[in-house]
Amino acid sequence: MKVLVTGGCGFIGSNFVRRLFESRGDGVTVVNLDKLTYAANPASLADVAGRRNYRFVKGDIADPDMVRLAMDGCDAVVNFAAETHVDRSLLGDASFIETDVRGVFVLLEEARRRRIAKFIQISTDEVYGTIAEGSFHEDSPLNPRNPYAASKAGGDRLAYSYWASYGVPVVVTRASNNYGPYQYPEKLIPLFVTNAIDGHPLPLYGDGRNVRDWLYVKDHAAAIDFLLDAGEPGETYNIAGGNEAENIEITHKVLALLQKPKSLIRFVDDRPGHDRRYSLDAGKLGRLGFRSVTPFDEGLAETVRWYGEREDWWRPIKERDAAYQEFYKTQYGDRLATSSSTAKPPG
Ligand code: NAD
Ligand code: TYD
Repeated sequence: MKVLVTGGCGFIGSNFVRRLFESRGDGVTVVNLDKLTYAANPASLADVAGRRNYRFVKGDIADPDMVRLAMDGCDAVVNFAAETHVDRSLLGDASFIETDVRGVFVLLEEARRRRIAKFIQISTDEVYGTIAEGSFHEDSPLNPRNPYAASKAGGDRLAYSYWASYGVPVVVTRASNNYGPYQYPEKLIPLFVTNAIDGHPLPLYGDGRNVRDWLYVKDHAAAIDFLLDAGEPGETYNIAGGNEAENIEITHKVLALLQKPKSLIRFVDDRPGHDRRYSLDAGKLGRLGFRSVTPFDEGLAETVRWYGEREDWWRPIKERDAAYQEFYKTQYGDRLATSSSTAKPPG
């Protein structure tokens, strides 16, 4: 099987490429099409880069010529490539529309032309929006509430439309918040782990009681690997971690693992339109036969250990990347200046 993986130099994509080689060995050829945005790190795949059945193509999924070249001879496509950070989308970045909507369109058009055997569109639980009680299932209405979520919902439904309109064998997946090795230090867990290692403040939004469901990235990669064979065209599958927790609980666990004081926690002004709770019912994937859930405490301990051992991976980003430092200042400068040690009102 020859698989085009897009965004393979990002967090989940790199874990997925590694998973494919672990589970399928020489039975798979991987073409990794990645634009190498700020979120990419080719070092994340250093251990597989020399394989004969791996090829890297630097390019944009919204560029039809690059997509034609990269998809040549492929049986399947797994589209991870996206702009992914909610806070950046709230700064008015047009690349969310360009990649998460138009890029998906370009990939689908090429897949339609080529009669690809399976196209997996990696969507997100954020397309459902927030839920006070219970859990979303695949037929729940979509109600994306921030620009990232809305652009992902556009890509999600565009992909489905290529099944409904043209019979492109599209499978859509909606996973909950991932955590694990190789995650760029802008998202909650890697940001807080690396800040805590350095004794820097941990900026918790609002009252810190928003709930996310945490999925270990290796479990997510295993689920996508499974769906590459078992996913039914035209179907959507939720992928959950089964580990719902308030952000403050996660923060306390990170501090405890690193033996750092709670005084590092700073409550800062909330994210605008901050979704209160995400929750998924992943029964459909379970009924298809998939089981693989790493207990949260185990996955978190492994993650914290990884960031402790791989300072060579994240320090260059945090200490030498001017764009990262500029983003950090924009996102947290004023917030930290007006932060407090007690909860702020939720936004
Ligand atoms: P990431 O930000 O770590 O990596 C994204 C990768 O896509 C980078 O390597 C980047 O260079 C590449 N990319 C961006 N724009 C591109 C373009 N136009 N053309 C080619 N490559 C491009 O993202 P991630 O956290 O690994 O997320 C991967 C996918 O999973 C995304 O589609 C995201 O929406 C989805 N998802 C993420 C989570 C999560 O918790 N991280 C949860 C559910 C779903
Ligand atoms: P994040 O990792 O950005 O993922 P998402 O927005 O996709 O859920 O955020 C996870 C949760 O952590 C979310 O409720 C926002 C919160 N958060 C903070 O409190 N402080 C931060 O600095 C960040 C990045 C996130």
